[in-house]
Amino acid sequence: MNEKFSKIGFILAVAGSAVGLGNAWKFPTLVGTNGGSAFIVLYLILTFLVSFIIFLGEIAIGKISEKDPVNAYKTLAPKYKNGWKFAGVCILGAILIFSFYSVIMGWILKYVISSINYLPSDIESSKKIFQNLLSSDLGVIMFYYTICVVISFYVVSKGVKSGIERLNVWMMPALFVFLVLMLFYSMSMEGFAKSAEFMLKPNFSALNKDSVLQALGLAFFTLSLGVGTIITYAASLPDKTNLVTSSISIVFINILIGVMMGLIVFTFIFEFNADPTQQGPGLVFISLTTLFAKLGIAGHIFAVAFFVSLLFAALTSAVSMIEPSVVFLMNSYKFSRKKALLLIFIFVYIMGIGCILSYQANTASSFTFFNKPLFDLLDYFTSNLLMPISGIIVSIFVGFIMKRDSIYVLFGKYMSKDVFAIWYFLLRFIAPAAVLYIMINQLFA
Ligand code: TRP
Repeated sequence: MNEKFSKIGFILAVAGSAVGLGNAWKFPTLVGTNGGSAFIVLYLILTFLVSFIIFLGEIAIGKISEKDPVNAYKTLAPKYKNGWKFAGVCILGAILIFSFYSVIMGWILKYVISSINYLPSDIESSKKIFQNLLSSDLGVIMFYYTICVVISFYVVSKGVKSGIERLNVWMMPALFVFLVLMLFYSMSMEGFAKSAEFMLKPNFSALNKDSVLQALGLAFFTLSLGVGTIITYAASLPDKTNLVTSSISIVFINILIGVMMGLIVFTFIFEFNADPTQQGPGLVFISLTTLFAKLGIAGHIFAVAFFVSLLFAALTSAVSMIEPSVVFLMNSYKFSRKKALLLIFIFVYIMGIGCILSYQANTASSFTFFNKPLFDLLDYFTSNLLMPISGIIVSIFVGFIMKRDSIYVLFGKYMSKDVFAIWYFLLRFIAPAAVLYIMINQLFA
């Protein structure tokens, strides 16, 4: 029997997995480069038509089997069990994501500490500091990276209830409180009105075909789909939980936090006439820090609160990347939780160091493959190949291989027959077609 979450623990743990760096910087960046709120509307439509549909598919696989992804596919497949088992290798994707995600957590932790007494006052010096950190401060980066990996593994070592659930149950509300306070502060700034207009008033003319692809990619990434996380957490879902309202709450929290982050970030951007269309790390680590610097003491407090929020968001996602492989090793090889963690730790720690070295000036060339630093390669491989392929497999498996009746038994209590039929149709035909379409476009763009 699996250790089970409490109901609220489940919602917060899955929301914690979903809310992460994707919301904190992919979301604001993409909103910024795609002309604001029209992109949000698009993102919402695609979330409900595609990613939420596959999300419920992963919930079904996890809850019906109550196993880790590898054993879930094996148990639920009526035939070719040993073939379907391989669909479970998607859990490898989660630890590959962890390998570079934990490096970013290290950067964030470094910024939490350094923002206490220093914020760069101009873009040039800010850029230099960030680039030096990535390309030459190996000792500093290793130090903060190691702390973040150790904390993540420590939490998972405590198990589902006293580790993962407990972390999420206090960290998610804390994150929310931080964001509300920062949002209130932002409201007192002139830039807020512009930020709100930018985020909330749609300008559909700014959208193009790329926006659709990016919105779908984001909708997929922020719901933690395609790497077995949702399957694994759903296996610890307490019985008699209303799956549908819980899932809707999770999607709602995910969107809400993205919008709050966006409002805060753009308030600063507009207040100080910075450029809303810059890319991820540049936006957060390079420009925001200089904008905070303009506020004096309040800016330091704001900066620390902001980076702590990012760290919380990232940590609750990070633990959910480790858990699927842990449960797999425990189920399949009878490993203890500690032994499973040790094995995974060795793997991700080495991969993470590889990611760090792939950005360091002296070692970059040895850690570059197919013209990409290992860091970018892992991001590219997981986001553009592994997650979408695995999403398609989920929809085919749940839509065509599993028995419709067994799924209806699970969801029928919480949705009407018609709603179920619509979901099932979207899952079988629309979601996989949409994902295939973005994947091909991304690969051959
Ligand atoms: N959803 C996370 C975010 O928005 C990132 C993520 C992608 C993730 N895939 C995942 C988290 C798998 C946990 C597991 O940042």
